[in-house]
Amino acid sequence: IAHGRARRAPPWWEQRRETLLRLAAQGTPRYVYDLATLRERARALGAVAAIDRRYYALKANWHPAILRALAAEGFGFECVSAGELAHVFATLPELEPERVLFTPSFAPRAEYEAAFARGVTVTLDSVEALQRWPDLLRGRAVWLRLDLGRGDGHHAKVRTGGSAAKFGLPLARLDAFLEAARAGDLRIVGLHAHLGSGIEPAAHWREVYAELATLAERIGTVATIDIGGGLPVPYLPDAAPFDLDGWARDLAVIKAAYPQFALAVEPGRYLVAECGVLLLRATQVVEKDGVRRVGCDAGMNALLRPALYEAFHGIVNLSRADAGATMVCDVVGPICESGDVLGRQRALPAATAEGDVLLLADAGAYGRAMANTYNLRALPAEDVIE
Ligand code: LLP
Repeated sequence: IAHGRARRAPPWWEQRRETLLRLAAQGTPRYVYDLATLRERARALGAVAAIDRRYYALKANWHPAILRALAAEGFGFECVSAGELAHVFATLPELEPERVLFTPSFAPRAEYEAAFARGVTVTLDSVEALQRWPDLLRGRAVWLRLDLGRGDGHHAKVRTGGSAAKFGLPLARLDAFLEAARAGDLRIVGLHAHLGSGIEPAAHWREVYAELATLAERIGTVATIDIGGGLPVPYLPDAAPFDLDGWARDLAVIKAAYPQFALAVEPGRYLVAECGVLLLRATQVVEKDGVRRVGCDAGMNALLRPALYEAFHGIVNLSRADAGATMVCDVVGPICESGDVLGRQRALPAATAEGDVLLLADAGAYGRAMANTYNLRALPAEDVIE
């Protein structure tokens, strides 16, 4: 079967080579974010009429310029820790608490206390929380995160539903939760499900909405249904972009079937992945047992996704954009682990040499956010292009 190359707009960075090389000269590793691309994604999501509330999952990338740009586009924020809550309000002091969602996993009680004190919307996901903290929860209105019994996503490690995952109240315990809530004077005003990240099946979100809406009708107090994030982006060169128009049509149909609820989403990756690139500098080119490796000044410490999920990020040599002959090589980092490979069997210019600047594409989501100082290597710098 011949797969036609999917129609994708050329990435923003193809037009920004000189700027990126100038930034790289200030030091690598370095993440660079293009706000125009971010706004384009934000406006595309903003135009999906069926959606009433949009929360950006800032775990994907909490750079202040990104948070400010998304707030200006009408986004609220989904936070998972007291640290994220503090950061979002420090960055956006005017932000109304109603625009913030707190959706933690196994967080300590003190973080729930902090969230209630700020007046943000809090999501619970276990009966045990109600049993242990009745004093904290009495009289509150909260959202309930459900596990719909299945997970989905680009890798087993990012699927957040089903019995193997730690997230969400299983449906079998819903009645127990509702009973404990009634006894504890707690009102469920939102239902929430986020079943994974990088989800391909287009029907996923409308199915989640339908399932939650059916349950919400039964519960009777629910005003908002949150169908999570998980929208995919095309990392592979011939992958098709996410069909946002088809998604919008889907959501309009299902929303019309249950119009009494406000529909909320909380995407991270979709908004920021393609607006970010990681710039590295080649350190050494070495051949061993027939494998050529291009080493870089950062690897899994700066971008963990390939090592953790075997995730694919396009790699180009920015310093030799129009070089002719190519070679096949692995692109590796300087970390003392065999898994420190950024890309396998990639085509790079045959002339690639020490000092060249390499660009890793689509690195704006879960890139800098998951960077670490393993081997005592410094965290990557960050720049924003307006
Ligand atoms: N809502 C909740 C409750 C979440 O846990 C997440 C992501 C999101 C929303 C946003 O999901 P997104 O739209 O970005 O798929 N580090 C992994 C992804 C982990 C996602 C964690 N939760 C990666 O690099 O692929």
